Amino acid sequence: MRPASETSDGGPVGGAATAVRRTASAAATEALGAEVAARLRPGDVVLLRGDLGAGKTTFVRGAARALGADAAVTSPTFALAHRYDGDVRVAHLDLYRLGGLGAEDEELVEDELAGDVVAFVEWPDHVAGLLAARTVLEVELRHAGADEREAELRWRAER
Ligand SMILES: Nc1ncnc2c1ncn2[C@@H]1O[C@H](COP(=O)(O)OP(=O)(O)OP(=O)(O)O)[C@@H](O)[C@H]1O
Ligand SMILES: [Mg+2]
Repeated sequence: MRPASETSDGGPVGGAATAVRRTASAAATEALGAEVAARLRPGDVVLLRGDLGAGKTTFVRGAARALGADAAVTSPTFALAHRYDGDVRVAHLDLYRLGGLGAEDEELVEDELAGDVVAFVEWPDHVAGLLAARTVLEVELRHAGADEREAELRWRAER
């Protein structure tokens, strides 16, 4: 078995387990995203939950860069989805504005996730069922003081 890297409180960061990490800056949350990205492979979907400003996009920025994306990683709140071509293809969705999921929206999400992409989905609850089979990790980010955040990583697959 591959040794799991340790979190600050001693739990593994991967391996079908749950880990909780605290970060004290946006850069630290990016670094956590990068660490997680090393375990992902094409076809994987990561769901990100947490309040506005909790750090979901920041986490994805670190992950996407680690996967070789060299374009600026910005919030796709209005575009719904951004694609990055790196060492692997990355899809970054933000479904905040998707009120309900009509057939058309469902198709859009499926199109964005088609092919060999590693996908990160913010505000995923309208499509969590649709994505369940591909979801390998659920990330929950929580405010924990000014620049402090708590990240809970719940792995759904061995990685
Ligand atoms: N420890 C930290 N981790 C992440 N972001 C932090 C941290 N400390 C401060 N920040 C700041 O908090 C903000 C997080 O914004 P971000 O866009 O990542 O949130 P989000 O969860 O994607 O929000 P939204 O739901 O609006 O998409 C950024 O301005 C970032 O610089
Ligand atoms: Mg965001």
